[in-house]
Amino acid sequence: MQDASNLSLEEAAEEHRELSETLKALSAAYYQEDAPRVDDAEYDVLFRKLQEIEVAFPELVSDESPTQRVGAAPAKGFGKVRHSVPMLSLDNAFNSEDLREFEGRVRRFLGLPHTEDVAFFAEPKIDGLSASLRYENARFVQGATRGDGQEGEDITENLKTLQDLPLRLKGDKNLHPDVFEVRGEVYMSISDFQILNENQAKAGQKIFANPRNAAAGSLRQLDKKITASRKLRLFAYAWGDASEVPGLTQSEVLEQFSQWGFSVNPLSKVCHNMEEAIDAYRKIEELRATLDYDIDGVVFKVNRLDWQSRLGFVSRSPRWAIAHKFPAEKATTLVKDIEIQVGRTGALTPVARLAPVSVGGVVVSNATLHNEEEIERKDIRIGDTVVIQRAGDVIPQVVEVQVDKRDESTSEPFQYPTVCPVCGSHAVREVNALSGKVDVVRRCTGGLICDAQAMERLKHFVSRNAFDIDGLGAKQIELFFTLGWVKSPVDIFALEEADKTRLQKIKNLEGFGEKAVKNLFEAINQRREIELDRFIFALGIRHVGQGNARLLAKNYLTLENLLNAFSAEQADPGKVYVDLLNIDGIGAAVADAVKEFFTEEKNREILKALQNQLVVIDFEAPSNDSPVAGKTVVFTGSLELMTRAEAKVKAEGLGAKVSGSVSAKTDYVVAGAKAGSKLKKAEDLGVAVVTEQEWLDLIGG
Ligand code: IVH
Repeated sequence: MQDASNLSLEEAAEEHRELSETLKALSAAYYQEDAPRVDDAEYDVLFRKLQEIEVAFPELVSDESPTQRVGAAPAKGFGKVRHSVPMLSLDNAFNSEDLREFEGRVRRFLGLPHTEDVAFFAEPKIDGLSASLRYENARFVQGATRGDGQEGEDITENLKTLQDLPLRLKGDKNLHPDVFEVRGEVYMSISDFQILNENQAKAGQKIFANPRNAAAGSLRQLDKKITASRKLRLFAYAWGDASEVPGLTQSEVLEQFSQWGFSVNPLSKVCHNMEEAIDAYRKIEELRATLDYDIDGVVFKVNRLDWQSRLGFVSRSPRWAIAHKFPAEKATTLVKDIEIQVGRTGALTPVARLAPVSVGGVVVSNATLHNEEEIERKDIRIGDTVVIQRAGDVIPQVVEVQVDKRDESTSEPFQYPTVCPVCGSHAVREVNALSGKVDVVRRCTGGLICDAQAMERLKHFVSRNAFDIDGLGAKQIELFFTLGWVKSPVDIFALEEADKTRLQKIKNLEGFGEKAVKNLFEAINQRREIELDRFIFALGIRHVGQGNARLLAKNYLTLENLLNAFSAEQADPGKVYVDLLNIDGIGAAVADAVKEFFTEEKNREILKALQNQLVVIDFEAPSNDSPVAGKTVVFTGSLELMTRAEAKVKAEGLGAKVSGSVSAKTDYVVAGAKAGSKLKKAEDLGVAVVTEQEWLDLIGG
């Protein structure tokens, strides 16, 4: 073989695939069949060749590569930490127009006059892993990963090895807040990443695909000596729980972070208005290639903290910040095949299998084609040359077909299947009863008899925001499903008891050792307690994502209530449907899907069995100690102390229901200037009428 760095990407990819296959076969012969085919030295030579390729082309490293099996990062063993203030994500902007709209939303929400400028703080968006660092009386006491935003892993000891992390805050001890959580990004510089990969190869250890993966793998090491030997760094940019906030603006707080001994990104700056912010984005984008760390965009935060707190949050991201991502990277490649995948809800999704191509440092060999109409509209065919793009973590997409490169004599339009490729049932495009519109998605009608649907449901059940069982991911589900061991969620929790020889059987599977099996059973047992909203989400009901799962949990409070509601349904058809529609935020499509799921006999059997295996924790309504929790309020007239949107969000945050019309069920009418008919109706009905100020006094400002 020639020197790996002289190979083209295609040659390297080819060589990489062949070597991986050979090494996998050799290791199976050695470990599983007890019949070594080569001696250790020969195996070593091949293994090193594979490593050389991966050092020269880190983008070829995948989870399946034989090099990744060496000293694989332990996923287990860290304690869990609940974040007292959730770690959120950011809304995205892709161009200056999106940024201007963001500014418009901020202005409208705050009700700002045109004469008032909004200052933004611009910070590079660091491509690493976020961490929360808790300080009590200026001492670093606990550090955690983001996890799912609500709960992360305790990585205190690992974080202590970072040079950029002060174990004690600098400065006057008497001025430090009692409690303060600094949040920031842990990352590895590009040069340290390259050195690490070279050293890893020399030591016969795993090669990392990019600095981000290297940082993640280095931080989540049970042996903190390994973390210490990898050069990890940290930029501080936000905070969580805080007994006191040291400043009135984002920039002042970050200035204080510097004085406490943290690194704050030097390119961060105050922009006095949106035009300056757009300019800051361009400057940072120009500098991107010269930086020794990866960034994937620029984050803009409303600089004034009083405005940040008024703006608050929408579901999982703050209203006061946005990330302007750098444009997606593009590449040209060949469509080798179009495959149809069947999802959890039966949706048929076409996927293009591509000749591997590097896009922004990652090898791409698949792209989503979305649906049948998309293929027709773009006329994507097998054999076509296409331009694909990849942005951040999103699945690559086909943006253009190069029709002039097509061989018209052999090329044919793609024929979309009308039967499910997995179970053979009819696949149809449903017609919406109300609008008469044909759904863009073709669905398998096989329901529970379709193995693809059953397996995807199971993968969803164990996924990160659902049961999140360590060591039981999509790959293991596929394996256990194919073996017939796990066909429904109930089987997961019976896996250990199912038969005494199971442990032995799992141990014999590729990728499982004695310890892995023990850990798996432990991880399953740890998840026998689960919050109701997570549980509902895990069921994988069509249209029920995390938001709707939470709404259902909030409304029904216990699993018992939920199940009872639908058994009562058999006696009183229609009632539960109306109840569902009465939940603010639940529409007809969701109500239909929920009703269908909970009345289906097979599902009810599974739910009852799960009830015996698990403890589903009742929903705990937040802020029920607020004086307006559970009350219905109507805002009318023109408000002067807050905008309508702000008033609504605030009231709902305190557990009140905001309604548009006054009835006998209304608890309060908040009347601003020039209130008209609603005020009159409230007076007629004897509903309590309060002024804006009285309302603010009631809810505590
Ligand atoms: S602020 C409530 N600032 O981006 C706002 N995040 O998409 C919390 N990130 O999970 C985040 N650089 O890992 C913020 N300067 C920056 C950032 C940044 C990188 C990451 C962070 C977060 C993700 C959100």
